[in-house]
Amino acid sequence: MTQTAHGVEFNKHLSATPKSVEEREAILANPGFGDYFTDNTAIVDFKVDADGNGGWHNARVEAYGPISLDPSAAVLHYGQEIFEGLKAYRHADGSVWTFRPEANAARLNKSARRLALPELPEDYFLGAIRELVAADQDWVPSGDGEALYLRPFMIATEAFLGVRAAREVSFRVIASPAGNYFGGELKPVSIWISREYARAGRGGTGAAKCGGNYAASLIAQQEAEANGCKQVLFLDHFNDDAVEELGGMNVFFVFKDGSLATPALTGTILEGVTRSSVMQVARDMGREVSERKITLAEWRDGVASGEITEVFACGTAAVITPIGVLKDETEFIGSEDAKTGDVTMAIREQLLGIQTGTVEDTHGWLTRLV
Ligand code: COI
Repeated sequence: MTQTAHGVEFNKHLSATPKSVEEREAILANPGFGDYFTDNTAIVDFKVDADGNGGWHNARVEAYGPISLDPSAAVLHYGQEIFEGLKAYRHADGSVWTFRPEANAARLNKSARRLALPELPEDYFLGAIRELVAADQDWVPSGDGEALYLRPFMIATEAFLGVRAAREVSFRVIASPAGNYFGGELKPVSIWISREYARAGRGGTGAAKCGGNYAASLIAQQEAEANGCKQVLFLDHFNDDAVEELGGMNVFFVFKDGSLATPALTGTILEGVTRSSVMQVARDMGREVSERKITLAEWRDGVASGEITEVFACGTAAVITPIGVLKDETEFIGSEDAKTGDVTMAIREQLLGIQTGTVEDTHGWLTRLV
């Protein structure tokens, strides 16, 4: 594979039938989340050769479209799959930037190790993002809270039904213009407590970003939606109902002394890039932040006594979304009329400001793409 000043060279076979300007603009006027995809996709393949040596090859950007897979491909049977989520932001001068991509590249490789997939050199990860966004730069929206959501993923493509790590793998990046994950304007969401289901267990894959974790969350998410909630909260039922995370995002608590806390990483919680950025931004604002065990009882009692003043969810897709109510058949914490808290809003604005270039990037978190 050719190395260039920017790392790996990607061959370009761009879409011959991109969306028209009118079609694209109609989509960008109301992108929603995850419904529309750009014209192209970036791909790198991996194969172990007859001598047992594995290598990444055939880096390319080509037209977005269906993937042709053998029906026996390992990913279709054993779920050997991992993914990431990050965004490309349009700045006021028209340039396009992404946020802490090295952290996503590192987490992808952590997930790869857990799922027995090959690690991807950072140059390929960054190169794929850079080349895809360069090809599809007109798709980066510029509205408030909008960005181009990038979804890197890795799948086991080898056609083989034995249960072992696949020797053929594909890494891909797709891109989707995104507004508010929960639709409409930012407002506090209601969360449903999952009593019956767990997202992850000790020694399992909870700390990896793999499709299986999300598949395991769906039945609980359905229960949440059937009860008028936007997300589900998973607890550690074997550890005093310690708060773990939501179906697709981490959780933060704001206390009346101005400090914040988020559940400590126990091996079953995803180490969110937004989670770690929120901790840093809050500390930069002079707030104390702790990573510790927070139980459902502390959440209930803290809200009742006024000790806990705000609760919010965070993730790349969700950015920072206030939580108004936590409930199930026996529990009701918070209020249907909750307003977005001041601390939640200040941290959200600071983080979005860094990402969109209106607040100084003192940590060197931004990488220019276009
Ligand atoms: C993200 O925030 O990027 C995620 O991966 C959550 C997603 C599953 C909606």
